[in-house]
Amino acid sequence: MQFKVTPSTVRDASVTVPGDKSVSHRALMLGSIATGTTEVSGFLAGEDCLATLAAMRMLGVKIEQPTPTEMSIEGVGLHGLRAPSGPLDLGNSGTAMRLMAGLLCGQDFDSVLTGDESLNSRPMGRIITPLTKMGAAIESDCDGTPPLQIAGGLKLKGIHYDLPMASAQVKSAVLLAGLYADGVSSVAEPAVTRDHTERMLGSMGVTVLTESKRISLRGGQELQGCDVRVPADLSSAAFVMLAAILAENADILINSVGVNPTRTGVIDILQGMGADISLENPRLLGEEPVADIRVRSSKLHGGAVDPQLVSLAIDEFPVLFVAAAAASGKTEFSGIGELRVKESDRIAAMSEGLRALGITVDESADGAVVHGGRFCGGLVQSYGDHRIAMSLALAGTVASDTVTVKNVAAVDTSFPGFCDCMAAIGADIRAVEEG
Ligand code: S3P
Repeated sequence: MQFKVTPSTVRDASVTVPGDKSVSHRALMLGSIATGTTEVSGFLAGEDCLATLAAMRMLGVKIEQPTPTEMSIEGVGLHGLRAPSGPLDLGNSGTAMRLMAGLLCGQDFDSVLTGDESLNSRPMGRIITPLTKMGAAIESDCDGTPPLQIAGGLKLKGIHYDLPMASAQVKSAVLLAGLYADGVSSVAEPAVTRDHTERMLGSMGVTVLTESKRISLRGGQELQGCDVRVPADLSSAAFVMLAAILAENADILINSVGVNPTRTGVIDILQGMGADISLENPRLLGEEPVADIRVRSSKLHGGAVDPQLVSLAIDEFPVLFVAAAAASGKTEFSGIGELRVKESDRIAAMSEGLRALGITVDESADGAVVHGGRFCGGLVQSYGDHRIAMSLALAGTVASDTVTVKNVAAVDTSFPGFCDCMAAIGADIRAVEEG
């Protein structure tokens, strides 16, 4: 599939975007190893989370899905998972693979984790290293990429691990393995990362201690099933926010979006660039803070983006690159080297895409300088990366001519219904067959 994007007039609207991907994965995994039933509402029925759903079912968990966004999980308890009948295919999802590796290395059966071409080229050494220190045995391809062969029947011990990179996935892998380990497992992060694992474990009755950037838990604690209401995904809302900001004169309300402070870097960065964004009706959905986000069209200006905010906005840089391209002056991004090992090399993909649309970008190993300008029409590649596809499509809504974005099927991994949501705000982005 490809996107055909026609310059559009984005208008006032009130929209709801799909559920949070990170929270949906965790609800499935933690609900599965809890005792009792976990009822999930607002679940993201995107391909990444559906891969986790299929994996948990292969591990013997009974999960009903009465509607696409509702899930009833009959937890099997900490030690109730069963050997799968074959490899677990986690599709495009790095979160599923890294968290499942943590969960599975403490089981009494072997398992194999694999994925699509993109996932099978992503680095797994970052989880293999700490999990091995805990006593796990995990084999990967020689360059540290999947498939992963995880041995069962090994005794794990708690460790302290200083994370070499800010990664919620690595932190979560250690914490999940820690549930099966003797003693206390702890991690220290170089920068704060999303804390959905800690919050959900807490709401299922597990004591997780967070002292500054050090997080720890004691092994052997049973989880108790609970209701999980998944907020709308701020990472998906970011595309609507961008559309509103770029438009001439729009005022858009996005309902019930997760605004966990470990995720809101994108709001801080856009506000710092002059965006008119306000949070209305702040409240809690279980352990997760949510708010309605109002975004009005704004004139953006460039500047140096604070590297301290990078881990709090890690998935929103493709959106921020487009915002920077539409801003006056130049915007400097630094400390974003992690983007090179996401679903694609996002620094390279965005730099190439923006250049094809007439924007000057200077790329470095762990950063980029985007020079504000005007988007022209053109043909751009998404490299099969959902967030690249959607970000470049948004640039097309304010380009001087039609923009075609190639290879966009992966959008369904995180934002099913993207084109319909965009149509609801007046953005003309159509998915059509390639060729
Ligand atoms: C995620 C953590 C982030 C993020 C990913 C989801 C999670 O990855 O990029 O989309 O759910 O834990 P890292 O923690 O590896 O940066």
